[in-house]
Amino acid sequence: MKRAIYPGSFDPVTKGHLDIIARSSRLVDELIVGVLNNRAKNSLFFTDERVSMLEELTSEFKNVTVGSFDGLLVDYAKRMDAAIVIRGLRAVTDFEYELQIAQTNHEVYPDIETVFLTARLEYAYLSSTMVKEFASYGGDISRFVPQQIIKRIYAKYGMG
Ligand code: PNS
Repeated sequence: MKRAIYPGSFDPVTKGHLDIIARSSRLVDELIVGVLNNRAKNSLFFTDERVSMLEELTSEFKNVTVGSFDGLLVDYAKRMDAAIVIRGLRAVTDFEYELQIAQTNHEVYPDIETVFLTARLEYAYLSSTMVKEFASYGGDISRFVPQQIIKRIYAKYGMG
């Protein structure tokens, strides 16, 4: 059985993330979306908020579950008995960083394989950071994130 983890900060989840989830869920038997509990990072959403938004948005996918993790991704993968890590690649600028993480993870846990899915062109420019920047100035984020979470994002900036 092929069980994979799609890890990330998902702060907030974007349409680009959801596209990677939909596509990778068709490649594996079970997909775990792993939300990094990045306390050091200045997150907009608490980890449990990010998990519940992802749960709501992925409920249509029967082989997708959502969890969170602290610490190293490889340790989480071992705990979850997952041998595949999924990551999305938007542009060549992502590549160097992603290559380094994938190689490090493979070095410390040779059973793990990282599979890269290329972002759809329409989402190639999209990032959570850009969504936050836009939202913080009251910009229209409806093209970037699913409609169900738009209000929750503006609310974090005291709008809406
Ligand atoms: O959505 P992001 O912020 O690009 O996701 C990055 C993530 C969560 C995949 C990466 O930071 C990660 O795996 N963090 C867990 C800590 C870890 O294992 N670091 C070692 C990488 S060399």
